[in-house]
Amino acid sequence: MMKYQDRPLVQALENFHNRKPVSFHVPGHKGGALSDLPAAVRQALVYDLTELTGLDDLHEPTGAIKEAEDKLARLYESERSFFLVNGSTVGNLAMLYATVQPGDLVIVQRNAHKSIFNALELTGANPVFLSPDWDEQTQTAGTVSLKSVNEALKQYPNVKAAVLTTPTYYGLINKDLKQIVEVCHSHSIPILIDEAHGAHFIVNDAFPKSALELGADLVVQSAHKTLPAMTMASFLHVRSKFVKGERVAHFLQMLQSSSPSYLLMASLDDARYYAETYSEDHYKSFQIYRNNLIQGLCNIECVEVVETDDKLKLLIRATGHTGYALQEALEQQGIYSELADVYQVLFVLPLVKTGDEERCADIIGKFKRAMDCVTVKKATSIRVNNFLSISSSSSVVYTATQLHMMDTEWIHIQLATGKVAADAIIPYPPGIPLLCAGERISQEHTEQIQDLLMAGCRFQGAINMETKKVKVVLE
Ligand SMILES: Cc1ncc(COP(=O)(O)O)c(C=O)c1O
Repeated sequence: MMKYQDRPLVQALENFHNRKPVSFHVPGHKGGALSDLPAAVRQALVYDLTELTGLDDLHEPTGAIKEAEDKLARLYESERSFFLVNGSTVGNLAMLYATVQPGDLVIVQRNAHKSIFNALELTGANPVFLSPDWDEQTQTAGTVSLKSVNEALKQYPNVKAAVLTTPTYYGLINKDLKQIVEVCHSHSIPILIDEAHGAHFIVNDAFPKSALELGADLVVQSAHKTLPAMTMASFLHVRSKFVKGERVAHFLQMLQSSSPSYLLMASLDDARYYAETYSEDHYKSFQIYRNNLIQGLCNIECVEVVETDDKLKLLIRATGHTGYALQEALEQQGIYSELADVYQVLFVLPLVKTGDEERCADIIGKFKRAMDCVTVKKATSIRVNNFLSISSSSSVVYTATQLHMMDTEWIHIQLATGKVAADAIIPYPPGIPLLCAGERISQEHTEQIQDLLMAGCRFQGAINMETKKVKVVLE
């Protein structure tokens, strides 16, 4: 029986399972028989299979996996789409490997995910960092503007690729993306987009447009973040006249396991199907669920809800409390948010197909109880956005590979002007490097770091907050 006929890989697994196979193959748990995991997990292990007859091969797909990836490509209107079993992390690595050569200049958003920084180090590309705009509404770093891309292209005419992040973790969209793509393409520069938080944009026009639709060349999406795929399961799409799908496939087979998890891949096939079958009625149900939740939360005293560009994300604030304090109180009631910062907690809503009023009322009830016991913690008075304007674009003096070979020393921040940062210096929040590894430290940087230290800001990276020393390169 073809119960899962629109999900080729899920169907192939089901067909295999229905034959009641005797396993003399890997994996060693033998369909869960030798596993001591909780019963529910053990049951799923009958589908934790490997490259057996009828189950295709992720790295040379010709059967069920090819069919599933082709369906994915049709849905997202790409030339070729790939299943990823190591998150957007491996997608970002493969995207850069397929596009740049050692020494190439690459435009990078300063608030990129660490996998992008790792990809730059591994490929030996030279970053040109662009500072994101600050978003007052959400009090978070946003995306880079067309203006700053244009300025960077003028200053660094040899740029070979641009890698940008949109949406941000908080659901902010790069509203200039279409024009940025046009400008970069007119200079034959491919645009790579980390769309880890935007795999669901395709399901309804009420969500922002996907970067693929706006002309980006390569787009990575963590299907597991916003679609119903398992953790790590992600997509990579290619539609480019600059970068070939085969080149991406070449690096993916180097970077990904030769034993990719069939559970993860089946969950990607299922997530694609979920997105493809998401109807207007489903969206209406989601909207009702979301409106009820927002209304219910806004009716609670001292609670403020901030909406972002992505309807799946909500920021919730409790007047007079930090986001950390609110998160703690919510967890005591069994409500777990995605993250907290000084100002707010971030909720990632479920992309439901049917509403559930009872469940919504229950959540509001728990939220009210959390507000009764939230402990007062004063919000910081630091303006965390000041430093974002120090320079709109800058490049490094030494690449990460060169830095690894160099000696370093710790010196007082007052003496650091003119030296090169040995590692990133990151005020937290917002968690965006004020200085990246290999950047020259200016007078403005040292003044800004001292101001932030005096204001009590916390830091991560190559800075000792007690001694006020920073790690620099011995040139
Ligand atoms: C913007 C961004 N890109 C990439 C990643 C990495 O994604 P994954 O966890 O799917 O490897 C994350 C993870 O949080 C992210 O926020």
